[in-house]
Amino acid sequence: MDILAEAGSPFAQRDFTIGVATSSFQIEGDADNRELSIWDTFCNKPGKIADASHGLVACDHVNRIEEDLSIINALNVDAYRFSVSWPRIIRQDGSVNQQGLDFYGKILDTLARNNIKAYVTLYHWDLPQYLEDTGGWLNRKTADAFANYVDVVTKAFGDRVFSYATLNEPFCSAYLGYEIGVHAPGLVGKEYGKKAIHHLLLAHGKAMPIIRKNAPKAEAGIVLNFTPFYSNSSSEEDIRATKLAHDHHNDWYIKPLIHGEYPSLIEQIPLAHRPDIKDGDMDIIAAPLDYLGVNYYTRAKVKDDGTSDPCQLPPPEGSETTAMGWEVYPQGLTDLLVQLHTDYTLPPLLITENGLASDDFLNDEGEVNDTQRIRYLATHLQAVANAMEAGVNITGYFVWSLLDNFEWALGYEKRFGIVYVDYSTQKRTLKASAKKLQNLLMQRKEML
Ligand code: NOJ
Repeated sequence: MDILAEAGSPFAQRDFTIGVATSSFQIEGDADNRELSIWDTFCNKPGKIADASHGLVACDHVNRIEEDLSIINALNVDAYRFSVSWPRIIRQDGSVNQQGLDFYGKILDTLARNNIKAYVTLYHWDLPQYLEDTGGWLNRKTADAFANYVDVVTKAFGDRVFSYATLNEPFCSAYLGYEIGVHAPGLVGKEYGKKAIHHLLLAHGKAMPIIRKNAPKAEAGIVLNFTPFYSNSSSEEDIRATKLAHDHHNDWYIKPLIHGEYPSLIEQIPLAHRPDIKDGDMDIIAAPLDYLGVNYYTRAKVKDDGTSDPCQLPPPEGSETTAMGWEVYPQGLTDLLVQLHTDYTLPPLLITENGLASDDFLNDEGEVNDTQRIRYLATHLQAVANAMEAGVNITGYFVWSLLDNFEWALGYEKRFGIVYVDYSTQKRTLKASAKKLQNLLMQRKEML
């Protein structure tokens, strides 16, 4: 991670943004003052969340907002990426929950006072349950409801936000939520995923001009997750399967945004599984972006298994893995960034998430020695630097995550934070990685 402070490093530039990230449902709690979301419903279904937990309290962030913001300030970061909870803003009867807007308004005020840029994600998976009750992302009208919500939020916050992201990882909302059912709302069926993503992308496209109107000085973009796929062998079959995995899981999401069309794979998909594309939709979806957010965690190797959605292999034997069982593969981040840059004419890229879960614990001295995280962050920052050297325009990097938090279907057992949360007391403890980042960012500040 020393690369942060090294003279001559791409990070030793004032305009390269370093930040930490969170999302509403994963940390906020305070479910009494908002509508329920699809994740509240999903958590109530037996067997869906590994530790049978829920988001009703989470990190109790709503009540500990001052402490959490002062931690962010003490870390010396340039920016904080967080999401707004849609069900905290728009009530079922359509009215606006002013208390919800005020909560985020307070965050924006404090960040501004501390000279920390606000990166606001408008949708990080907590769809109001009342919208799921009318079909959720399978219903085209949800895209209009999103546009209305974005209008309310961006009118209220305007240019106090430095950068807006419409959606976070629509792949997860559509594929995990509406095709394989491991995320809320838990639908299973090949006929759902591609229909859901079309409406998500449409929601994004409809929101873009609204953000531009209400916050003309703010950046507007979207955050996608990518998995670089590598063929398991040089056999024609494996190479074809690898391309198919890429088309399904990466290209399906970026191509419509940049080129206004789905990959040609669409022709091989049964008619009943295809999205319902109306005239003009693809132009709306391809609205110009100020930046593209890239979330990266790991890569996958692919082997032909004769299916239309090929098999991703477990990490190679002997490779380093994280507590999620994901391979640590920093080269994948460089390869991914260079590949995106080669395949598309892109706006500047921003690494909106990168990090790992580890089996962190408080030792007898009350410290958390998350050495694997320090190594992971250092090698991945180097991977970003390598991509920049290869000519990719990258404007910032956000660590996922500020706090240990609710890791969706895996509950609270997977700890992604650079700050440890003791869920029985809600006490926060800076892990070794947070202290390291804090020191390096301090040196960097002094240098710049
Ligand atoms: C991506 C998601 O945006 C975030 O919510 C999640 O916690 C991390 N990946 C880790 O899985």
